[in-house]
Amino acid sequence: MFADKDISKFNNIETPFYYYDTELLQKTLRTCADAAAPYGFHIHYALKANFNAVLLEQIKGIGFGADCVSAGEVRRAVEVGFDAGKIVFAGVGKSDKEINEALDLDIFCFNVESIQELEVLNELAAKKGKTAQVAIRINPNVDAHTHHNITTGLDENKFGINSWDLPECAETLKASANLKFIGIHFHIGSQITNLDVYKNLCVRVNEFATWFEDKGFNLKVLNVGGGLGIDYHNPDNQIPDFEAYFKIFNEFLEVKAGQEVHFELGRALVGQSASLITRALYIKKGKKKNFVVLDAGMTELMRPALYQAYHKIENLSQISNLKSQISIRYDIVGPICESTDCFGKEVEQPESFRGDIFAIRSAGAYGEVMASKYNLRDAIRSVYSTEI
Ligand code: LLP
Repeated sequence: MFADKDISKFNNIETPFYYYDTELLQKTLRTCADAAAPYGFHIHYALKANFNAVLLEQIKGIGFGADCVSAGEVRRAVEVGFDAGKIVFAGVGKSDKEINEALDLDIFCFNVESIQELEVLNELAAKKGKTAQVAIRINPNVDAHTHHNITTGLDENKFGINSWDLPECAETLKASANLKFIGIHFHIGSQITNLDVYKNLCVRVNEFATWFEDKGFNLKVLNVGGGLGIDYHNPDNQIPDFEAYFKIFNEFLEVKAGQEVHFELGRALVGQSASLITRALYIKKGKKKNFVVLDAGMTELMRPALYQAYHKIENLSQISNLKSQISIRYDIVGPICESTDCFGKEVEQPESFRGDIFAIRSAGAYGEVMASKYNLRDAIRSVYSTEI
């Protein structure tokens, strides 16, 4: 819940904007780092969740590495000061230009997603007289039981190398003089709230690790990806249960001496630390439906339109003033010329008025970074809790 002081300050700021609670972010990062420390687990922050430089400064400060999926993200991580030795580069479609750039920056590891990519990487590294460290992303065929648009670890997904291609992959690795094979990588999906899924992942990781070790490969890194979910329905339950999450890997993963376990967390670290703050432009009362038309839409936060994702919506003006006791069901929509531009249908709210300030909660991950200029909208701004 927002403090009253926030709401009165918000009144004087032009909407819409992302409001980042940097103290909460710090607390979340600390909790995660402290939960991982006893096991010696390594955390790489997945920049794709949010590459806002202010947040990245904090994340770098806590000592995490960076998980990047484009040359742009690799560049951003280096600019912010992440140690290149802690940057991994994943992605199913790395261009030659991107690979070259990452080779020049001497990043820690390429998470490779196809046999052809191994060949290209080997060739490009050879041209530069370099050796690239690689981890093989394996598709483990583990169901993450999450929204089908954000599941990644099933046979039908485009990600990773399938188990039946591993013998050929092993041959390619052996034949690639400019690659150093250091480990195996997995990522089964995002917004995973059923932690049992990770037990299944551990079983598969153990099987694949044994397969490679039996072939004479020495695995230094077991990278289990990210995906830990957050509680969108109760955004005040702000810090995910990192302890329970890491405990599973400690219990179920077979880690050999000298092996490192790597994680790539995005949403769980930043998701609850931001809200999209927006104002009601118009209230439309119809016979069948009532609408609140906000000044933010799918161009600012695309998740509801794209995945029918739930974000809790709060009318901060009415919560703080208690001007109104009446509660009404509204469709809460944005200004964009698309019917899917809707943050919530039939959402129970206090009676709302033009000018009321709304918070769309849990918007720190895959929010600002997925904003678009569609309808030639103004770029969305950010406001930090330390500024107001
Ligand atoms: N590692 C890899 C290889 C990934 O593909 C992802 C996310 C992550 C790590 C970080 O996952 P996280 O810990 O944040 O769940 N736009 C969607 C989510 C897409 C996730 C893509 N991959 C959404 O708004 O829900």
